[in-house]
Amino acid sequence: MMDKVIREIEKRRDGYVDELAEFLAIPSVSTDPERAADVRRCAAYCRDALEKIGFSTAEVHETPGHPIVTADWSGAEGAPTVLFYGHYDVQPVDPVELWTTPPFEATVRDGSIYGRGSADDKGQVLCHWKAWEAHFAAHGRLPCNVKVLLEGEEEIGSEHLAPFIDANRDRLASDVVLISDSPMFARGVPSLCYGLRGLCYMEIHVRGAKSDLHSGSFGGAVANPAQALARILSGLKDHENHVAIEGFYDKVRPVSERERAEFGRLPFNEIEFRQQLEVPELVGEAGFTTLERIWARPALDINGMISGFTGKGAKTVLPGVASAKVSMRLVPDQDPDEIAALFREHVESHAPPGVTVRVENLHGARPYLAPLDHPANRAAARALAKAFDAQPVFTREGGSIPVTVTFQEELGTTSILMGFGLPDENAHAPDEHLDLENFHGGVLTAAWFYEEYAHNGK
Ligand code: BES
Ligand code: ZN
Repeated sequence: MMDKVIREIEKRRDGYVDELAEFLAIPSVSTDPERAADVRRCAAYCRDALEKIGFSTAEVHETPGHPIVTADWSGAEGAPTVLFYGHYDVQPVDPVELWTTPPFEATVRDGSIYGRGSADDKGQVLCHWKAWEAHFAAHGRLPCNVKVLLEGEEEIGSEHLAPFIDANRDRLASDVVLISDSPMFARGVPSLCYGLRGLCYMEIHVRGAKSDLHSGSFGGAVANPAQALARILSGLKDHENHVAIEGFYDKVRPVSERERAEFGRLPFNEIEFRQQLEVPELVGEAGFTTLERIWARPALDINGMISGFTGKGAKTVLPGVASAKVSMRLVPDQDPDEIAALFREHVESHAPPGVTVRVENLHGARPYLAPLDHPANRAAARALAKAFDAQPVFTREGGSIPVTVTFQEELGTTSILMGFGLPDENAHAPDEHLDLENFHGGVLTAAWFYEEYAHNGK
């Protein structure tokens, strides 16, 4: 069965990069209102692509935000059903001047394809499209039943996805959810990820005087909101990099000795990691290794700060306002709403005199931990081993995919996280890229997965 599928993949392989480039050319930046029409165009592109592959039921669904695309093929009677989830939206491209080539004109260099969305997540979504296409071309069918769910708001918190899932339980019912939206542990080390961190994304607004002021006429007598904000921000962590918000760690599940030992056995090299990032040293919560800090401990990061004069040259001004975006990565059993309330209390009670502070909750996601004994996990491990010629490792990751928790809690369905990116492919940053060998490995893995799960999965 698979011989013919693999021949189809080999026959088409040379065209895959051009197809990915076409997908990447659509600037589906979900956070930018000016790109809303492009996001919509991208949803239509996904529907058309799925139709062309062989899903006659592909559909675009409107939401109060960006559209959701679904499709399903249920011709494999008696076989299990996989719900494939991916996202077609991408992150903003700023600072755009730091891209070597334009973010929406995909370019191949040194064995990788460069462009916004190449790794996160369009390239990984395409791996599955090409696997389905090859199965349909080879046998006119898929090995198991497949439902497809693609969203356009993953990068901004998936606000309209949970209500859609709730309203479409039957349409989305499946034995397992499959997601390719995460990195592999390292080159040549295929991975299955069983945990993701959650997120609590806040914005702090500090206001001083009614407007910007001449810093000569008023400086020294009126509070400076930028400095007030700096003081608030620097108080969010202590000198050992513990988050200083009262109650922040109360619900953190400790990392078990067993998991610590498992993390410790992974081929992780701190020095290489540090050198790759070109940082003089690694800094994090005292008492934990780098992998523990990223995968199993919460973190707090300032994502951006705005205040005062940031143009060229000098301008003597006492800013009227300052703001900062701060996000916290959460681990089981932290709850984003509870953390948001603790954050608000902390910031409001630590505001320096002379300014008013407003705290806004932008969005949140709960942390996810998957059970490891799902049969689809074994099918995925076999598929990865066949395609990459190496045994996969089990990992957790520091990023978030909010819908995994919705699937678990609303539908009772486990997500298998089988990613084909690499940790250093600049997701969310300039020069995002995807290694083409891993991309082709991803197509092959996906092709094997549906076959393995159909026959050995239940
Ligand atoms: N692909 C990432 C999720 C990811 C990142 C998984 C790193 C594993 C490792 C996804 O597209 C993403 O960036 N999600 C956002 C979600 C957030 C806005 C709720 C994230 O993690 O910042
Ligand atoms: Zn993603």
